[in-house]
Amino acid sequence: MAKMWTGRTDGVTDKLADDFNSSIKVDSRMYKQDILGSMAHASMLGAKNIISQADADQIIAGLEGILLDLENGTLEIDYSAEDIHMFVEQVLTARIGDLGKKLHTARSRNDQVALDTRMYLRDRTNAIIEKISNLLSAIVLKAEEHKLSIMPGYTHLQRAQPITMGHHLMAYAMMLLRDIDRFKDTKKRIDVSPIGCCALAGTTYETDRYYEAQKLGFNEIALNSIDGVSDRDFCVEFVSACSILMMHLSRLAEEIILWSSWEFKFVELSDAYTTGSSIMPQKKNSDMAELVRGKTGRVYGHLMAILTMLKGLPLAYNKDMQEDKEGVFDAADTVDMCLDVFAPMIATMKVLPENMLMAAQKGFINATDLADYLVKKGLPFRSAYKICGQIVGDCIKNGKVLETLSIEEYKNYSELFESDLYNEISLTTCVNKRISEGGTSPKSVEKQIEFVKSRLENV
Ligand code: ARG
Repeated sequence: MAKMWTGRTDGVTDKLADDFNSSIKVDSRMYKQDILGSMAHASMLGAKNIISQADADQIIAGLEGILLDLENGTLEIDYSAEDIHMFVEQVLTARIGDLGKKLHTARSRNDQVALDTRMYLRDRTNAIIEKISNLLSAIVLKAEEHKLSIMPGYTHLQRAQPITMGHHLMAYAMMLLRDIDRFKDTKKRIDVSPIGCCALAGTTYETDRYYEAQKLGFNEIALNSIDGVSDRDFCVEFVSACSILMMHLSRLAEEIILWSSWEFKFVELSDAYTTGSSIMPQKKNSDMAELVRGKTGRVYGHLMAILTMLKGLPLAYNKDMQEDKEGVFDAADTVDMCLDVFAPMIATMKVLPENMLMAAQKGFINATDLADYLVKKGLPFRSAYKICGQIVGDCIKNGKVLETLSIEEYKNYSELFESDLYNEISLTTCVNKRISEGGTSPKSVEKQIEFVKSRLENV
């Protein structure tokens, strides 16, 4: 495609330099935002008499035609164009003649690209919020189903205290709720219109930036034109929100991988979300969860890349900034795919409560409750802790567990032990009694579920 910026230079560039310079393979996905932005711009130019209303109408009709043809496939993107902005303008001029050249009055590709990216990410953010909500609903449903299913809770990946699967899953629900808040908050900074900042300094034409912003559904406009074309904070924030979300998904993916192993067998994934091995017939691999965990790395990479690209850039626009989109788009695509596969993977995941209970019974995870029993009988916690430590140590030596130690044996450690201790250290009691706000008791987990559900209604 011929270059639109020939003037000072003759526009004859090296073929390799052209390819190197071109961003259309990356930014062509913003064609719709580019065209809608241009329509709003033409409309403003007409309304402010910068061009005639008739000219504006013709430009808008031309742009509408391009959008339609791109959507129905009669017009194909020409990848030899420099970028999507040049492509649209060139097609417009080819279709409506010299009039098309009036569109670029009182704007620059610098404010144009910032506008398109913001509009594009605004849509993607809304879609991501929706997808997180879907995953959240699947998690809450599973948590509700398993609010009574006891499992070991871990610290240091050592069995620590009994919890329920419902409680454990609700921890992830809280994380995802924060992710929704983070994306919503990011959207506030995305939702600022840069159009009208022009190259960097504004323009001598009497434009109306609020008119354009309002037409494109923006809440605010960039108040400093240099900042308006240089600011990519919203991209950084977007990838940062993606990274934190991926970190959450990756932690859950890791647990699902562990829980699916023969060593744990706490859950079984549906065949639809696992693969077999080409050589080992016994295998059922949690590939989807592993991929989510694996893809987290590339999203973090994009965050580092954009932060580094921006670091040290003098104001205002520099071509380095063209590098912003590839990583940001890939982060959005990755997050989308991961959320798409995660929600049904959780919904179809079978929890195996018997196995979880068996694991919970083996690890002295009620030792804290045994100590609490003595505390309630008047012993200071540190002394109770020491006695229980000795009991656990002796049990391990003698191949016993707290439940199988006789009351006579208990009394050797402390006269305070009575036969009601067995009820106190039963796993169900341990779980049911943790009624503190946020704790593992079914009552408390129900409250958490209700909270998340009510938040989900107003996303
Ligand atoms: N393709 C460019 C980008 O993505 C558009 C802006 C070009 N502006 C310029 N002054 N060369 O950043």
